[in-house]
Amino acid sequence: MAPLAVAGSKAGGFGFLAAGFNLTNLDADLAEAASLLESADIHGPEGVLPIGVGFQNWGSDLKLAVAAIQKHPPAAAWFFAPRRLSDLLPWAKEIRAATGGRTKIWVQVGSVGQALEVAKTTKPDVLVLQGNDAGGHALAHSASVISLVPEVVDALALEWLRIPVIAAGGISEGRGVAAALTLGASGVAMGTRFLACKEATIAKGYQDEVLRVRDGGVSTVRSKVYDVLRGILDWPKAYDGRGVANRSYLDAQSGMSEDENRELYKEEMQRGDEGWGAEGRMTTYAGTGIGLVREVKSAEEIIKEISTDAMLALKKTVGRYSEKHVVFGKPPG
Ligand SMILES: Cc1cc2nc3c(=O)[nH]c(=O)nc-3n(C[C@H](O)[C@H](O)[C@H](O)COP(=O)(O)O)c2cc1C
Repeated sequence: MAPLAVAGSKAGGFGFLAAGFNLTNLDADLAEAASLLESADIHGPEGVLPIGVGFQNWGSDLKLAVAAIQKHPPAAAWFFAPRRLSDLLPWAKEIRAATGGRTKIWVQVGSVGQALEVAKTTKPDVLVLQGNDAGGHALAHSASVISLVPEVVDALALEWLRIPVIAAGGISEGRGVAAALTLGASGVAMGTRFLACKEATIAKGYQDEVLRVRDGGVSTVRSKVYDVLRGILDWPKAYDGRGVANRSYLDAQSGMSEDENRELYKEEMQRGDEGWGAEGRMTTYAGTGIGLVREVKSAEEIIKEISTDAMLALKKTVGRYSEKHVVFGKPPG
């Protein structure tokens, strides 16, 4: 995972290393990132690695996190899915203390209520607003970024809470970035697009599936079944995961028992890359933007292309809006 995070930051984005909930490898992953970054020409804040680390707080060990972060402080720590939002307070306090505030705190939330509570209590440096289209885990009940972002921006402004927001969920290319910026986001976080990235360390079967699937609103589903199959049963109740609807999902829908489904999943694991696909059973966590992901590219190519396309989309929109104004607005003079 370190190579992808490093490649993202080298290309002018800001790469996050996914620590997940099992932090036993975090120390080694950060050391690998530090070594990859030694020769990198990145201008960022002094004394921190120019990458972030993402935690799933519901299952992570804060002591392990602090120990690893003290050795190799990252520029940001990303929090997600605590059991209670108040659980984030010791995380923010101890990580800030461990690095003298050099490691900035990002929190990913999925509703206006969560955003306001976190803004007032944890006081993060950045809020990531995760909409319902997002790949992987998210609140089972949530809005898409199209309404979530502006409502949160307004709610924060009303309370004089000045925290930049980042939009996440369903954004796979430049037009989505342009839309997110228009909604009031300062930037975007993308997961699904980077599954089809040269530096992503995922199975070929998974990556092929990301390229194959279209029409993400229909071909992906939010479900808890993929956690059940893999025996990851401790996620907070409000969360489920978005992935491509496959045979396991359809069988669960038709009433197959969890035990039988899990056994079939285990057998499927033996088939390697053949286990993915609409009739396969391997999990393809991905967002609704999957249909826009058509090619494997390097992190640098993806970030450059998306930045250029976002600028073009914004310019086109302004152009089109002005034309309409002339056509439908008051005639000049
Ligand atoms: C395969 C996959 C794994 C993810 N794992 C995590 C995770 O460990 N922690 C986290 O905070 N978010 C995770 N996410 C969600 C992202 O933070 C983000 O909300 C999402 O990728 C944005 O939507 P998109 O996938 O449509 O770009 C994951 C997303 C995907 C696709």
